[in-house]
Parts: sequence; C-alpha cells; structure tokens
Amino acid sequence: MNYQLLDGKKISADMKAEIAAEVKEIVAAGHKPPKMVAILVGHDGGSETYVASKMKTGHELGFEDELIRFEDSVTEKELLDTIDRLNNDDSVDGFIVQLPLPKHIDEQKIIEAINPNKDVDGFHPINVGKTSIGLPSFVSATPAGILELLKRYNIETKGKHCVVLGRSNIVGKPMAQLMMLKAYPGDSTVTVCHSRTKDIAAITREADIIIAALGTPEFLAGDMVKEGVVVVDVGTTRVPDASRKSGFKLTGDVKFDEVAPKASYITPVPGGVGPMTIISLMRNTLISARRRRGMEAKYLYFS
Ligand code: GUN
Repeated sequence: MNYQLLDGKKISADMKAEIAAEVKEIVAAGHKPPKMVAILVGHDGGSETYVASKMKTGHELGFEDELIRFEDSVTEKELLDTIDRLNNDDSVDGFIVQLPLPKHIDEQKIIEAINPNKDVDGFHPINVGKTSIGLPSFVSATPAGILELLKRYNIETKGKHCVVLGRSNIVGKPMAQLMMLKAYPGDSTVTVCHSRTKDIAAITREADIIIAALGTPEFLAGDMVKEGVVVVDVGTTRVPDASRKSGFKLTGDVKFDEVAPKASYITPVPGGVGPMTIISLMRNTLISARRRRGMEAKYLYFS
C-alpha cells in the first residue's frame, strides 16, 4: 500500500499562519496580544526542550510570553502561590505547569489549583470532565492536535474501530473519550489497551485507526496491523544513540519501517504529533484571549 504521511510539521505551519493572522486582528482591534505563561521546574532534558519550543512558537505568533523557572527543590507552597498569582493576574490569558514534577510535589493538587478558565493544557478535572461529555472546554493539547491532523487529512472516523494504546490522563484517556463523541472527528468504536491488556496484537489487528501512546519505543510492529490502517504515533522516547550529536534518537511507539508499508496514513516521528501538540496549546491560548476580550471564540470541536 502507498501510504501518505500525516505531516504535522506542515499542518502546524498552516495553523501557525492562521493563528498569527488572528493575533494581528486582536491587536488591530486595540487589544493586547494573548499572553501565555509556562512554569518549568528543574532541568529535565525533555521538559526543557518542550517548554523552549512552546515559548519560541508563542513568540513567533506575536504572543506575549513569560517563563517562570524553579529548581527541583521548589516547595509545593511556592508553586501554589505562583499559580494563585497567575490565576489572579488579569494580563495572563493562559498558563501551563510543565509535567512531570519532582516526586515531593503532588501533581494533581497543582493541576487542580489552576483556574479552569486559564488551564490551556486542559488538565483540570473540570476541563477533562467537560471534554468527556462533549461540553465546550479546553481540550488537552496532544489529543486536540491529533484530532486536527485527522480532520485536515479528511480521515473517515465514523463507525471505525479506533484502538488507543495507553491510558495516561493527558493522552490515552482524553483521546479515547474524544474519539467516541458524536462528532467529527469521532463517532468511532473505541478500544483502550494498556500494560495489563492480554494479546494486544489480536486487538490492534482489528483496528482501522491506531493511536499509539504507550511510551514504549517501537512497540507496534508490522505483524500487529492490518492493511490500510491509519496510524498516529505519540511516542517520543529519547533512545541513546552515540552516532548523534545530541546523544539520543527521538523514537516513537511504532516500528515505522514495518508498519508504514501496510498503512494508508501514518505520522512520522519527529514531525508528526509533536508540532501539533505545541500549536494546539497556542490555539487554546488564543481562544482564551479572545473570550477574555469579549470576542467570539469557539472552543475546539464544540459548537
Ligand atoms: N508533559 C508532557 N506533555 C505535556 C503537556 O502537554 N503539557 C504539560 N504541561 N506537561 C507535559
């Protein structure tokens, strides 16, 4: 089968141009540009890269942005105080706390301290719950980016069997909920597989659409999929690779060389889901900014 790449790099560039034009409109109407703040704790290599990329994209879009950094030794109280300040700072349209956080900090407590109206990551239980029942809400960035990719390639999802690999709160669970909503993309029959699922291959072989978000490098092999499958690879594990300057290779959850020849559509890693996640966060921030300035703004995927 001749597969087509689901090109997140290209689609995110298209979206970037659309968002930048809207930022210009907001400013031309006499408003301040959208403002996004990121909180980064510690020096984890992956988190550093993601946050740097988010700040750079925001800057290129004409957003105001601010990065608040803490060392690993930060206390829960310091973080909660910062969140409280950002919740009450009228100049801030949205903010994120980059995960994971150090072990001594209760991640869920931090997430629940964020004002749901500024929770552009869509991690607060209010946004998670609203998303799951199809109410207007901030949709978390990776699932939102995947939906946008499916939409812009006109992938049929109605009545299809969608298999989600992984049950994380930020990808697997919301992805499964969204794919079963009465909507497009959506209307799928969804199966969720995870580390305790028996005979995953028997399930993935029945899948029309596979969303791989286990974080296990090259988990999905060629003999685990059927011809014509649509494959979305969310994995971004840093696998050591001495031949590279960075010392690692960003590796997805899919054995691309084996799976691609059987697929109708497939995302590359990198250049698939990654850039879609970042641009979706920016779109959530734009939505927040428009709403806070009294301008019309629809949440993603909800009319
Ligand atoms: N860690 C991994 N992905 C994400 C994300 O989308 N947002 C935040 N805040 N942390 C993450």
